[in-house]
Amino acid sequence: MHKDLREILISTAELEAGIKKIGAQISKDYAGRCPTLVGVLKGCVLFMSDLVKHIPLETRLDFMMLSSYSGTQSTGVVRTVLDLKESIEGRDVLIVEDIVDSGLTMNYMLRNLKTRRPKSLEICTLLDKPGCRKVKVPIKYSCFTIPDKFVVGYGLDYNEIYRNLPYIGVLKKEIVEGNKICR
Ligand code: IMP
Ligand code: MG
Repeated sequence: MHKDLREILISTAELEAGIKKIGAQISKDYAGRCPTLVGVLKGCVLFMSDLVKHIPLETRLDFMMLSSYSGTQSTGVVRTVLDLKESIEGRDVLIVEDIVDSGLTMNYMLRNLKTRRPKSLEICTLLDKPGCRKVKVPIKYSCFTIPDKFVVGYGLDYNEIYRNLPYIGVLKKEIVEGNKICR
């Protein structure tokens, strides 16, 4: 375990099993179609790359980058930093997100992508933190439900650190209080 962590919440083996299961479900639901998976950067990167390996359909991959968070606190204001490359009009779109926390980011994504008239629009998230929800979000696929704790690893960061950890863990209090930065 990384020295800055207090505990591991979801192990590598648990992540693999959970993602495999969701991949099978998505493959079944979208059989015969060509879904566009829209990853929300940067947190989606590890999840998305493992998830698509379990979806043996013809798929398109695209990405958006939004911003709302700095440190452990959401600013509540969401804006598009990087937009989709392709049109999604008439397409089956599946948003791939690392975590749904307040729900503000996914609420923004849904409203934004709906205006582009996709055929269908659903959300797949690695983690669901329902205890922090400020706005209701319809989540179609969720791999793990977690308690109200700030987690890092497997794509999720604290000040851009820890995204490369192959598991999900909880940071030690002193790391957050010390506002650790990678120089
Ligand atoms: P929301 O808009 O509050 O639902 O937050 C969504 C975004 O905040 C996620 O896509 C993450 O990038 C970030 N986030 C929320 N909770 C955590 C966490 O526990 N650790 C790391 N990032 C988080
Ligand atoms: Mg994210």
